[in-house]
Amino acid sequence: MSTLAQEVANRRTFAIISHPDAGKTTITEKVLLFGQALQKAGTVKGKKSGQHAKSDWMEMEKERGISVTTSVMQFPYGGRLVNLLDTPGHEDFSEDTYRTLTAVDSCLMVIDSAKGVEERTIKLMEVTRLRDTPILTFMNKLDRDTRDPIELMDEVEDVLSIACAPITWPIGMGKGFKGVYHLLRDEVVLYQSGQGHKIQEKRIIGGIDNPELDEVLGSLAGDLRDEIELVKGASHEFDLEAFLAGELTPVFFGTALGNFGVDHMLDGLVEWAPTPQPRATDVRTVSPTDEGFSGFVFKIQANMDPQHRDRIAFLRIVSGQYAQGMKARHVRIGKDVRFADALTFMAGDRSHAEQAFAGDIIGLHNHGTIQLGDTFTAGENMKFTGIPNFAPELFRRIRLKDPLKAKQLQKGLVQLSEEGAVQVFRPMKNNDLIVGAVGVLQFDVVVARLKSEYKVEAVYEPINVATARWVTSSDARKLDEFKRKANEFVALDGADQLAYIAPTMVNLQLAEERYPDVTFHKTREH
Ligand code: G4P
Repeated sequence: MSTLAQEVANRRTFAIISHPDAGKTTITEKVLLFGQALQKAGTVKGKKSGQHAKSDWMEMEKERGISVTTSVMQFPYGGRLVNLLDTPGHEDFSEDTYRTLTAVDSCLMVIDSAKGVEERTIKLMEVTRLRDTPILTFMNKLDRDTRDPIELMDEVEDVLSIACAPITWPIGMGKGFKGVYHLLRDEVVLYQSGQGHKIQEKRIIGGIDNPELDEVLGSLAGDLRDEIELVKGASHEFDLEAFLAGELTPVFFGTALGNFGVDHMLDGLVEWAPTPQPRATDVRTVSPTDEGFSGFVFKIQANMDPQHRDRIAFLRIVSGQYAQGMKARHVRIGKDVRFADALTFMAGDRSHAEQAFAGDIIGLHNHGTIQLGDTFTAGENMKFTGIPNFAPELFRRIRLKDPLKAKQLQKGLVQLSEEGAVQVFRPMKNNDLIVGAVGVLQFDVVVARLKSEYKVEAVYEPINVATARWVTSSDARKLDEFKRKANEFVALDGADQLAYIAPTMVNLQLAEERYPDVTFHKTREH
């Protein structure tokens, strides 16, 4: 095998999807602890302790104790090299969260076992479906009173339409949480509380019929044997092919806080999750082991480090390898550029990357020439597809404090929308400027950045828009008719694409029925 093929085979690139408070940050800490990237878990985020992740970049962010940054963490595990792309959550939830999911090859879904499937998880799962991304599941917080595990799996199957294959099964819960039974390894792993900050020495009992189990668990051992019989009969067996097709998810139980079960999940990840996958371009499908370098930009982050007032473009390498100082074709502008000082992201630290391979993420310094969705190649003129804008869900009208600065405002908004920070809509019927976002914090980010980078003071006003869809039609006449008749709700986005901005979901539904020749899209490709 060539070096490139070996490096590719060795890599796993994934992201975590979850509802706020399900435990994403805690799992990230433990995962990094296993990867030895952190000396002691607990430094990714300290909401209450006043510690902040190194990637925090804005004062505003510090005040709120949240991270706007999608950082990339690379660590070794089980002989593999794992890239974990952090997905902004909580108030910093944004389109970047969605788009990050287009740059990974698998996802870990974390569920709070007391709550089950929650709203944000449903939305994020919808996005993973665009590429049928394989999903692993971690049922978290077993050290608390949770819902019945069978009921939890049923809910995942019903609500998210994905089959569940339990890999581990919990023994008790809350104060009575004893550990898990690993169905594939046929062993019981016992839980010790109060060991969450370190890698535990595990006590393992081999074989479910082992009499040792009765000594340790007492009458629970018999119950466990009965329950496992039942679970085996009632659930799906793990099937690698179905997992890789995004149709079945291996399910692990544990507690992130207690650092128990996270390693089972990681073992599953490095064993089953796909290696860096091929990606489609407008010309051909690019394989990760193609020698020529190629990649696409899925996120642009401004002011990551207040000392460096630059922007970083996050590029997912699709094929070949990056070496410091190499040249690459910036396809959209048709120029060859030198990657002088790309960054890699080891557990939140910025460090210079000597080399990186397909599956890895590198950060490029961007002085305004790189846009979201841009493709870089070894010289080939092709463009990666499938890096979309997502229909925003929150809308506000933006208004200038100083009306003379209209030009700067427009310019700032268009640039910020090219970065993917927010989207801008200009209704056909008036001169409003409407800002759309998927997460509420983006509104504040935009005003802060307009002020600091474009010297424009702007404020928001509420506006009656519930949702937006991009509209297309194969019939130009029908589209014209639609523009005329639905004029009140038609707008152009920052890239001059036609959009429909609906005051209510019912209005959108009616419009879809009324104009069957027009297609309403939830995403727009760059
Ligand atoms: P998020 O990133 O998905 O939003 O969740 P995060 O990890 O911040 O976890 C949310 C809360 O749930 C935190 O408590 C965290 O300590 C707790 N938690 C995470 N995993 C477990 C678990 O396995 N068991 C229990 N019992 N709790 C868990 P917090 O008090 O809100 O915040 P913090 O100050 O402890 O960070």
